[in-house]
Amino acid sequence: MTETIFPLGGYILLNNNLRKSLLQKYKFSLITLTLCLGLLFLCILYILSIGIGYRVVYPSDFAPEDVPISWIRRAIAYNALDKAEYNGDDFIKLQPNLDLIDKYKLICYYNFPLDANTTNEYLKPEELDPYMCTHINVCFGSIVNCTIFIPESQVTFVESIINLKEKNKDLKIILSIGGASDDGGFPDMVLNHRNRKKIRFRYVDYVNLMSYDYHFYTKSTPFTGINAPLYASPNQIGYFATLNINYSAYYWHFNGMEKNKIIIGLPTYGHSYTLMNNQNTVIGAPAIGYGRLGILGFVDYKQMCTFVTENKIKPFFDMDSKSPYAVKYSEWVSYDDTVSLTFKTEFIKNNDFGGAMIFSLNMDDHVGVCKKDLPKGTPKRFPLTNTVKNILTIDQM
Ligand SMILES: *[C@@H]1O[C@H](CO)[C@@H](O)[C@H](O)[C@H]1NC(C)=O
Ligand SMILES: *[C@@H]1O[C@H](CO)[C@@H](O)[C@H](O)[C@H]1NC(C)=O
Ligand SMILES: *[C@@H]1O[C@H](CO)[C@@H](O)[C@H](O)[C@H]1NC(C)=O
Repeated sequence: MTETIFPLGGYILLNNNLRKSLLQKYKFSLITLTLCLGLLFLCILYILSIGIGYRVVYPSDFAPEDVPISWIRRAIAYNALDKAEYNGDDFIKLQPNLDLIDKYKLICYYNFPLDANTTNEYLKPEELDPYMCTHINVCFGSIVNCTIFIPESQVTFVESIINLKEKNKDLKIILSIGGASDDGGFPDMVLNHRNRKKIRFRYVDYVNLMSYDYHFYTKSTPFTGINAPLYASPNQIGYFATLNINYSAYYWHFNGMEKNKIIIGLPTYGHSYTLMNNQNTVIGAPAIGYGRLGILGFVDYKQMCTFVTENKIKPFFDMDSKSPYAVKYSEWVSYDDTVSLTFKTEFIKNNDFGGAMIFSLNMDDHVGVCKKDLPKGTPKRFPLTNTVKNILTIDQM
């Protein structure tokens, strides 16, 4: 009996020892494995959570005054127009009698501060270069009882603008009326656009083409797009193929407007979107709203530079529309830079249009925060407007 018990007992003893040591090893591995799985789970949770959005750096120095609510109304109203009835008029604003003075016009929009007490960052009239533009369009007075009405708080700004003429007597200063006032003037403007079909072009000195806001987020257009594409892309058909600068400009020309009276609008701002899916970042990708960058999706150039630099973004450049766009996680922004505006200004020259209209000086970098990202030799203040100006004036005959 003992002969058979001994090996059995020995076996049990061995087994117990082995089990103990195995358990100790297993315990260690189990703890490690649990920790790893836990960490992995947290990582996945972090990546999936919207919390990742907080790693995007959003510049916060955007003065809300820079985007009058009326701009958004204008943009939305364009979008709401019946697309089947599209006739090109709605992107247009006519200007009253002015003489042609240069081969190319450079018409720059300047927006008033809403009142004299706005932030220090607001572009003041004294900061404008009187030689940069051929015309300055000051927005926006309104018409009250057939008289131009300027709120008292803005009179000093108008005076400062007019003072620019003391330095450059050739500078034309235009008061834009009713263009985007907050007092219900907007529906009238849309109505006027429709009536303007009756105007004979030979009485018109020039038209400013509002060739921007072709694409931006609305509930009925929930996908990304380029703010001011120069040309259509080959996959755009029908109405969508008309949503570009080239089509709008030639639309007016084919309907009888002389080319040198057509002034092409170029934006200094962009439009931001929030992507539905971070992985789908193409032009036309589904979007669920405005981006967090900017005010209701309107992003000025200063803010764009800061956004691209601080997030170390390498922007894409779309060769069909000749425009850049920048993406960081779910933030998608179409904007214009010195390269895109070079293409668009060359288009104006090569096609003999009348010049460029900049919308607006306020949205360009009037402070100089973009300077390190600019091509050599670009002036650090108003880099976009100055790029357009330089191309228009180089080799001018
Ligand atoms: C501007 O600010 C000054 C002092 O802060 C104040 O007295 C004045 O009423 C303000 N003006 C407006 C138009 O809000
Ligand atoms: C416009 O003119 C009418 C009649 O002269 C006058 O009653 C009204 O107060 C004026 N409106 C404004 C805003 O000046
Ligand atoms: C520009 O527009 C004209 C007139 O609509 C058209 O013939 C031309 O093909 C367009 N150019 C490009 C590159 O799309």
